[in-house]
Formats: sequence, C-alpha cells, structure tokens
Amino acid sequence: MPPFCSLTDEESEAAGRDCMEHVRRGGDGPLVPAASVVAAGEKGEVRAALLVVLKPPGYRDDPWRWDSWRNTSAPDPAVDAGKAQAHLDWVFVSPWYAGNGVASSLLARSAIALRDFGHASLTSSFMLGNGESMAWHWRNGFELLPNPASMRNFQRRLREAGAHP
Ligand SMILES: CC(C)(COP(=O)(O)OP(=O)(O)OC[C@H]1O[C@@H](n2cnc3c(N)ncnc32)[C@H](O)[C@@H]1OP(=O)(O)O)[C@@H](O)C(=O)NCCC(=O)NCCS
Repeated sequence: MPPFCSLTDEESEAAGRDCMEHVRRGGDGPLVPAASVVAAGEKGEVRAALLVVLKPPGYRDDPWRWDSWRNTSAPDPAVDAGKAQAHLDWVFVSPWYAGNGVASSLLARSAIALRDFGHASLTSSFMLGNGESMAWHWRNGFELLPNPASMRNFQRRLREAGAHP
C-alpha cells in the first residue's frame, strides 16, 4: 500500500529495512521495547510486529509537537509514564496471516505492558486512504481525533504566530 506499492520488491524491502532502522534509532521518538511485540513463526521469521514509541507530553492534544523527541535517548517508560505519551508507531502483519486477529492480539499484549507502566492512553495514526488500517483502529476502540494536518488548524497557527491575515 502507499507509499510502498509503487516500488519493486527489492526497493520495498530496502525501504522497510530503512523504516525499521529509523525506529530503532529513535527517529520517531524513543522506542519502548517492553511494549513493542513481535509475532514470530517456528523458525523465528517475523509474521507481525507492533512498535510503540514515546512522544512528548501533550502530544495527544497537540500532535504538532511530534518532532521534539526525535532521536533522543529512550527515557525509562516506567519512570516517565506520567510525562510521556505512548504512541503506536507501526503495526504490520504478513499478508499470509492477516485477518486472524494477530494485530489485535499484539495490541492487547502491548496495552497490558503500557498499563503496567502506568500509561493511561495510546495514540496512533494512519495514512488517509489506508482503509484497512482505519477499520482496524476503529474496531480496536481508537477514538478519532482532529486531523493534525487540517488546513484550518494550520492557518490558525499561522494567525497565532502573526504570519497569516
Ligand atoms: C491493518 C493490519 C495491521 C491488520 O492486521 P490483522 O491482524 O489482519 O487485523 P485483525 O485481524 O486484528 O483485525 C481486527 C479487525 O480490524 C478490521 N480489519 C482488519 N483488516 C481489515 C480489512 N482488510 N478490511 C476491513 N476491516 C479490517 C476488522 O474489523 C477486523 O475484525 P474482524 O476480523 O472481526 O472483521 C494488517 O492488515 C496490515 O499489516 N496491513 C498493512 C500494514 C498497515 O497498513 N499497517 C497499519 C499502518 S497504520
């Protein structure tokens, strides 16, 4: 699916590896290994994964602050529960195993770990046009928040900064 569907298999695999390396480096915010889960087959092959990162406090109400913890070292999720926003950064299931509740099970495991750390909420996002992801989030009880890329919000921000009539 977009943005990977137009790539060749090799390009797509390389892009996937780059994305995972980016997450491992903390490029989307510090990774929370204890709340990130992988479903593997008998030979250790990855069938599905769900990766959780930490976003700055207030991220839920103001996703524009998404960038401020980029590439920072991981705060201890146990210590920083009250200060950080847990964020579902990636969830993917091999097409061979999709439609069997795998992603929902990974989410349940992750949510238990996050709750044990004291996190009260989990944010997530999906690309417009990714209907299966939207349906999956809806089915798992996520609440739809205002679109952070809304033009009205963008213009309001410019006005507040005195840069828009
Ligand atoms: C989206 C994705 C993670 C779902 O994984 P999954 O293990 O198949 O999902 P589940 O079986 O837990 O689905 C639970 C519910 O989500 C909804 N859902 C999931 N896939 C759906 C689809 N293709 N079409 C419509 N609804 C879907 C259904 O309501 C489903 O419940 P049901 O089986 O009772 O109908 C998986 O399809 C995937 O990896 N997609 C490609 C990567 C991606 O888009 N990731 C999300 C990026 S934000």
